[in-house]
Amino acid sequence: MKTTDVTVLDEPKIHDPSAEAVIEPAVESRPRRTTGVKEAKIYIDGKFYSEANAKISVFDHGLLYGDGIFEGIRFYNGRVFRLEEHLHRLWDSARSICLEIPMTMRNMTEAVLETIRQNHLRDGYIRLLVTRGIGNLGLNPTQCKSPSVIIIAATIALYHEDFYKKGLTIVTCATRRSNPAALNPAVKSLNYLNNVMARVEANLAGADEALMLNDAGNVAECTADNVFIVKHGQIFTPPVASGALRGITRSVVFEIAAELGVKVRETDITRHDVFVADECFLTGTAAEIVPVVKADGRSIGNGKPGPVTARIIARFRQVTRETGTPISA
Ligand SMILES: Cc1ncc(COP(=O)(O)O)c(C=O)c1O
Repeated sequence: MKTTDVTVLDEPKIHDPSAEAVIEPAVESRPRRTTGVKEAKIYIDGKFYSEANAKISVFDHGLLYGDGIFEGIRFYNGRVFRLEEHLHRLWDSARSICLEIPMTMRNMTEAVLETIRQNHLRDGYIRLLVTRGIGNLGLNPTQCKSPSVIIIAATIALYHEDFYKKGLTIVTCATRRSNPAALNPAVKSLNYLNNVMARVEANLAGADEALMLNDAGNVAECTADNVFIVKHGQIFTPPVASGALRGITRSVVFEIAAELGVKVRETDITRHDVFVADECFLTGTAAEIVPVVKADGRSIGNGKPGPVTARIIARFRQVTRETGTPISA
């Protein structure tokens, strides 16, 4: 994967003390490389805006309360990967939080495709949000009469290519994945503070990702990725009931494994299982499929990305380039 000209989300931040003295309007102080697209066009409620003019109200409950939902979607080689699955999951999230998406799924499909066209991209990432909309300062969503739809197209590489070759290190974090009775992780909501706190722990520990456990102490997922391990030629991943998102990349791995004749079992996984696994990898739309070589200081397998992971990554790269909803009208 080419990482020049793209937004690398995990780039180290360069500390610039001179920047601290300057107080500028929020819009002006945004990082320059936000979408990575020159003259980006951002969709908000049926219209396209430049990055500088793409604004929503400070009274939107998406901002005030994290009240809204989102999807992260990739497109490769002129096709949107698993668009239908992403939209179905978006609609499920909406139904779960009693949010009415103000358009049909067919119109949403067209809006996503048109946003990519407007930004003249063939490969990249879409962030699609539906916010509860403008209300007052009370949290009652009945105040919000019109949900907003925002679609941002970006170039993206979550990790440098080196990570795919050498693998990531992960640490178990103390922050538990939200209990489904409090906020079900199956809802891809704008409230990601649980995951952000886990990510802060990984950063503080100098690791690349955080392994999140559920209330029972079993592995749920990482901060924005599903977790898989390989042991004795079989693949294991936690069930959705453990607090894992029903990841779309996860389901692609199930399909690829079936093609390759490798058995996948959805079962509870403990930290011990991760430590003694032959291989471990993470899956997510942004991260794609990335090997893990160290967990809590223990080398996984021989400390290098394993052969099953490599075969799955190779096939995944083929599938993503060859299938999907065509972008061109
Ligand atoms: C918490 C969480 N888990 C897992 C995933 C991976 O899901 P997907 O493969 O659908 O991107 C994501 C990303 O969407 C996520 O936010």
